[in-house]
Amino acid sequence: MINVGIIGATGYVGEELVGLLLKHPQVKLTNISSRSSSGELFYDLSPRFKGTITLTCDKPDIKKICAKSDLVFLALPHTASMDFVPQLLKAGKRVIDLSADYRIKETAVYEKFYAVKHKDKLNIKDAVYGLPEIYKAKIKTAKLIANPGCYPTVSILSVAPLVATGIADIKSIIIDAKSGVTGAGKKLAEGLLFSEVNEDFKAYKVNVHQHGPEIDQEISKLAGKKIHATFVPHLLPVNRGILATCYIKKTQGSKGKAGDILSLYKKFYKDGPFVRIRKPGDFPRLKDVVYTNFCDIGIQEDGESVIVIAAIDNLLKGAAGQAVQNMNIMYKFPEEAALL
Ligand SMILES: NC(=O)c1ccc[n+]([C@@H]2O[C@H](COP(=O)([O-])OP(=O)(O)OC[C@H]3O[C@@H](n4cnc5c(N)ncnc54)[C@H](OP(=O)(O)O)[C@@H]3O)[C@@H](O)[C@H]2O)c1
Repeated sequence: MINVGIIGATGYVGEELVGLLLKHPQVKLTNISSRSSSGELFYDLSPRFKGTITLTCDKPDIKKICAKSDLVFLALPHTASMDFVPQLLKAGKRVIDLSADYRIKETAVYEKFYAVKHKDKLNIKDAVYGLPEIYKAKIKTAKLIANPGCYPTVSILSVAPLVATGIADIKSIIIDAKSGVTGAGKKLAEGLLFSEVNEDFKAYKVNVHQHGPEIDQEISKLAGKKIHATFVPHLLPVNRGILATCYIKKTQGSKGKAGDILSLYKKFYKDGPFVRIRKPGDFPRLKDVVYTNFCDIGIQEDGESVIVIAAIDNLLKGAAGQAVQNMNIMYKFPEEAALL
């Protein structure tokens, strides 16, 4: 049994973490914090938890958090996490950070896309990118997990088998992704009002989104070559879920037989209990994955190209679910604990 805390428990991701950790048989959720809700009972803020949790939200106080936790989840906006991580690590705690603060290895790239100076460069190099399907071995011993972004999770899982095996023509990768509105967090913004989003659909941050360099970093590592994928995010008028359609040209000489690519994906994810590969001609929809930790992938070969369609729940496989999956691997709990 481990004692666990959440800083930022009142956000969309924090709330999902509370729900998952409460049903985890080997975890005791001992402390939750947020600045604006300190002193309030968590179930008063989120009445769906009435009868399942008696904790009150505290102000984030590192000493108190450390005294009550073996592991701390940070469900904070980027830039806020790097204020907490150095002190938690110094106190010997293991940390799973759901923000972007430790995902990008090149500080200059982080600073360009997030428009802030990084305050904890020292810990970036030891942070393990928490995508279990690729980094399970490193996650087992990690002190600090940089939990992947939601768009990067679905995008990397979509193209990884083709990139890692040299089948993808690395100049031709196009990721066309659509996310529900919870992807932007709870902050108030005119563009996220119901009346702005409902019955509408639009692209935004076309090829300049901050998740672009995160995707490029990870698929470049898999390929052993620098890759820049074309990444276009869209805002869907739904609460949760991301569906990505990826277009990839095959390299010369890697055409193979029809069905080879499907077998490749099945083999690549054979140890990934949360990746489900669809049979030929079958493609995921959001309804198949929302409220689950699964990433469902459908594949269509088209002569010299492959079209990969993948779907996840942005708050689960794209955030809190993946974070709990990482915790399970770090503490040798069953990988699926609290997630099925
Ligand atoms: N939403 C998604 O689908 C998704 C997916 C993947 C990753 N993420 C990442 O996960 C993190 C949390 O996302 P979210 O959507 O849950 O955000 P959110 O809904 O805006 O929640 C943020 C939480 O952090 C607290 N907080 C904000 N600033 C803080 C500070 N300076 N110090 C301490 N606490 C602070 C907030 O409460 P108070 O303001 O009361 O302190 C709240 O509890 C973000 O980094 C986000 O990029 C989100």
